Formats: sequence, C-alpha cells, structure tokens
Amino acid sequence: MTVLDTRPDDAYANDRAHVFHSWSVQGAITPAVITKAEGSWFWTADGTKYLDFSSQLVNMNIGHQHPKLVAAIQEYAAKLCTVAPSFANDARSEAARLIVEAANTDCTPAHFTKVFFTNGGAEATENAVRMARLHTGRFKILNHYRSYHGATNGSITLTGDPRRWPSEPGMPGVVKFWGPYPYRSAFYAENEAEECQRALAHLDNVLMVEGAQTVAAIIVETVVGTNGILVPPDGYLQGLRDRCDRHGIVLIFDEVMAGFGRCGEWLAYQHWGVAPDLVCFAKGVNSGYLPVGGVILSDAVAETFQTRQYPGGLTYSGHPLACASAVASINIFREEGIVEHARTLGTDVIAPGLEKLMANHPSVGDVRGLGVFWAIELVRNRATREPLVPYNATGADAAPMNEFAAACKSKGLWPFTHFNRTHVVPPCTASVDEVETGLAILDEALTVADAYVTG
Ligand SMILES: Cc1ncc(COP(=O)(O)O)c(C=O)c1O
Repeated sequence: MTVLDTRPDDAYANDRAHVFHSWSVQGAITPAVITKAEGSWFWTADGTKYLDFSSQLVNMNIGHQHPKLVAAIQEYAAKLCTVAPSFANDARSEAARLIVEAANTDCTPAHFTKVFFTNGGAEATENAVRMARLHTGRFKILNHYRSYHGATNGSITLTGDPRRWPSEPGMPGVVKFWGPYPYRSAFYAENEAEECQRALAHLDNVLMVEGAQTVAAIIVETVVGTNGILVPPDGYLQGLRDRCDRHGIVLIFDEVMAGFGRCGEWLAYQHWGVAPDLVCFAKGVNSGYLPVGGVILSDAVAETFQTRQYPGGLTYSGHPLACASAVASINIFREEGIVEHARTLGTDVIAPGLEKLMANHPSVGDVRGLGVFWAIELVRNRATREPLVPYNATGADAAPMNEFAAACKSKGLWPFTHFNRTHVVPPCTASVDEVETGLAILDEALTVADAYVTG
C-alpha cells in the first residue's frame, strides 16, 4: 500500500489521532481533508469544490499543481533528491542566481549578490537578524507592532501580533514601534502624507531614546501581510532607508508574504524603488511546493562574511529538490508573465471590484492593497470605524467574522480572514473570471456582516 491508497476517512482519523496542528486547540478542530487541487481550486473529500481565495497561507502564487512545476520536481527527484549544504549543486546554484537576479530588478548597479537558503520564512527572519547583528556589531532590532515574522524564538519575538504573547519574553533586544496605518492612525493623521511624516518622526524619537548607535537592524514587512495588508504610504520606505543610512543600521525587508509576484512585482520594494540590505523570502518563491525560504544579501553585508565565518546553518539549507522547484517556478513566472498578470489583476479587476463592494455594503469600512494582495476591513459603523469584531477576538466575540467565513464557504469560496478583515489573496495566476466569481461570492456573503452594522 502507498499513501495514495489511503482513504479520506483514514486520513481524517489519523489526523485527529496523531497530527498536532499549528496555532490550534487540538480538541476543537475538524480539519477538512483536501483530496485534489488544480489552479485556483481545491476539492475536499466530500466532493465540494472551493475557489482558493487564500492561496492556502498566501503562498500558492503559481496556483495549485502547475503541471510544469510538478513535472520539474518529478524530473529533478529522479536525478538527485538531496545533498548536504557543503557541496555545490546545480539546482541550488541556479536558484541563487535567479533569486539574486529577481531581487536586482531595477537595481543598477546590482545591489544583491548572495542567497542563504532556509526551510521557510521564520528561519529567514532569524538569520537576517543574526547577519545584521554580526555585520554591525550591534544588538538591538527595531520593528513594527503590526507584524508577523514567524514562530521560532527570535521570529516570534519580532512578531508584533498577539501570537507573540505566549512566547514572551523571547529574544532580548527587540524594540517595537508603530508603522503607518492610515485607516487607524496611531498618530491621528488625516491623510497618507501626514501619516508617513508622523510615522517617521515617531521612529526618529524611538531611535533617539534607544540610541541609534545601538541598533543593528530595522526589520519590516514591505507590505504588512496578515496584520492588515498595510501598504506603506509613498515616502515611508525611503524614509526608513534614509534613517538606516544615516545611523549605519541594516534595513531588512521581510518579503515572505509580499514577494514573488504577490504585489505585482518580483519583490514588493520594487514598487517604490527602495532596496533594503537584506531581503527575507519564502512562500511565493516556489509556491511552497517544497519547503524553502532564505535571505538575499546585499554585496555590503555579504562582504562581511567573505573573511569571517558565518555562525549559522541548516541540514537542508539549499535543499536541491526545493531549489529545483524554485528554479522551475521563477522560469514559469517569466514565461507566463505572472508578475505582470498579478499587477493587472490588481489595477483592473480587484481594485474596481472592491470599490463596488464598498459601495454596496455598509460593513465595508476600507479596502486597500496592490497586485493580488488586498484587504477588506469590516466595521460596525463607518463613522466611528468600530471594527466588526474586537482586536484578537475569540469565541462569541468573533462570531460575526466566523459567520461571514461560513457564508463564503457555503458558496464555494475559501476565504482568508484575520481579526475584522477578509483578505483577497487568490493565486497570482487566477483568471479574471475566477477573481470576478470570487468577488461575486464576497458580495453575497457580506450581507452577513451588514446585519451587524449599527451606524
Ligand atoms: C511576513 C512573514 N514573515 C515570516 C513568516 C513565517 O514564515 P514560515 O511560516 O514559513 O516560517 C510569514 C508567514 O506567514 C510571514 O507572513
């Protein structure tokens, strides 16, 4: 018997008996068994077909089971499944070359030179911080409250959202500050320009009292993902760059969710033409067909480790099969114009579609995003902006969002919800028809949220 002979009922029973799930009360979950997936769709064991408006965990940028990517993995698996990281390997070398090339898009002269491969996003942020500390000889790391950077000891300390709380105190030396969020400004700003200017003034104050000369790195999600699809106002990333240059601080952009097509660019920072010193990536680089992530190093940071040992490593750093899938994925992105398609889906289909939803539904307080990376923020009252559910709501408090998600699922759409938001994050390869189908389902499901509107 092979795993392909396993019946869905057994898959479910063995899951409940033996699989320990992330972020879950183990006894309270009933995971759907997925039996098949293709493009923007997946099927559960009872035969229900869902439009994947979550791209799983916002990683399935190329869509499910892309035939060329599956074939490339099969082909390379037959050649060489794995070798230790100390050897050179064709798949790893080519993946590094292509990733550096993607990172250098629009950078003249080339700014990035090397890639340190990890198994995913958390290890990428952990290692980026380690590199920044060694490069600068400093200790402190500054980052945003509204953020997610992973769940290992260091990366969960970087994480600003409540998932950090049970793991505190975590890694020493991390200091949080407020980033821009025009819809719920921490600075009482009334427009994007004011938000940008005040957020940077706030950071200047934090740098002053922390001692800018003690700060190794500022790490931010280029576009904040799970915590709200917070697109930085024009000028904000450049403001971070200027401050890092002024104080000798390493600028790290976490592009684990925002990168590789999601924002309609190879890497999201290309939208603003601001390059960091280190880039963290994972997810979209190969759509998670195999686990891989990493840190892209600028020449200046890479140089530090030309004559000095890098004190970090992983058995599967640069795993050949995972790297072969990244090579294939990047080549498919190029051949099929997927980055450009994602950009156009954003400007021509999702942006106008969400404006219509906002016009139709009093529960929609704000819509924002770019590429295929959008949030619909749900409120009880547009005037006061009271969120549909409280921050970090659970149980009965979270009921309105749970009902909204259930309504989406009952109509065949698998949503990505977080707090009082639903994110519109289908695969970058979704067709115009598929996105419009999804928006039509959201249009119906939003009546559930409208019922809670009081203002
Ligand atoms: C911005 C960001 N950074 C880091 C991570 C952690 O990645 P992983 O789950 O692969 O460890 C995530 C995961 O969602 C993320 O969105």
